[in-house]
Amino acid sequence: MDTPIENHPHLVKTVVVPAAGLGTRFLPATKTVPKELLPVVDTPGIELIADEAVKLGATRLAVVTSPSKQGILAHFNRFPALEETLIEEGKMDFLAKVVRSAEIINVTPVIQNKPLGLGHAVGLTEDVLDADESVVAVMLPDDLVLPCGIMNDMAAVRAEFGGSVLCAFEVSDDKVSDYGIFAVESTASDDVHRVTGMVEKPELADAPSRFAAAGRYLLDREIFAALKRITPGAGGELQLTDAIQLLIDEGHPVHILIHRGKRHDLGNPRGYIPACVDFGIRHPEYGPTLLRDIKAIIAEFEEE
Ligand code: UTP
Repeated sequence: MDTPIENHPHLVKTVVVPAAGLGTRFLPATKTVPKELLPVVDTPGIELIADEAVKLGATRLAVVTSPSKQGILAHFNRFPALEETLIEEGKMDFLAKVVRSAEIINVTPVIQNKPLGLGHAVGLTEDVLDADESVVAVMLPDDLVLPCGIMNDMAAVRAEFGGSVLCAFEVSDDKVSDYGIFAVESTASDDVHRVTGMVEKPELADAPSRFAAAGRYLLDREIFAALKRITPGAGGELQLTDAIQLLIDEGHPVHILIHRGKRHDLGNPRGYIPACVDFGIRHPEYGPTLLRDIKAIIAEFEEE
């Protein structure tokens, strides 16, 4: 069933989607509903990620979930009883919405029994990748990087510079302490920098740049070997950034591509609500009334 790697325009067949985290910052909603299924307007965040993977030319999502988050996998299955009901009721638009997630991409489940960290989650996918896949493409489902398609540009950077390519965006001084910040050296391109290190959530004075990590990675397959050599870091978890740092220390080229567009963090209410507003006011059906209603809510709030 698998197509050879040459048939994939950006040489990415599989996109790894780590989705086994606890979603602590979104409790109590995430007590029973995986945060990856929370809707942005009407579409779960993980389906937006599937669209991005399809745009990259991938045909498989390796979704890492925990035993208690199996609803994520169910979202990519057909649902015959619901489909029959929608057909009987003539609700063909809704039928199309229900069917599409099962049709756009194949999903391979990978189980992470305990949330031992993002690095651990990525490491579990090694056996899912075919022998001809030289890159490990990772998309974090709680990060929306817009407009969709940054990984395609990152693939072009990897073709030019080799090694691994990460996505970064520029943050203001007051935000540096919220993110992993890259230490970089410039290249001939304004948008591409060579990474010399990473600092997790630094104080402004210690921040080596204003370039923050976004949840998109094109990692050389060597990352799997590096992940086996790291020990638990921040929070007692196996950190993906520690494995990337190991590669950098050993001379492996790692570059960032600066994303000049938008980014939404769906992993907590503070980022999720603006994402819903942003998508909502642009929605062809709900947009016009939503914009009017939101303006009215703000006007009323400001008068209080
Ligand atoms: P986050 O730290 O943003 O997600 O990890 P989280 O752990 O669910 O969040 P909080 O801190 O509890 O609120 C980034 C991504 O990595 C996945 C998460 O599901 C998320 O998509 N992840 C994280 C795993 O798959 N396994 C882990 O052990 C940790």
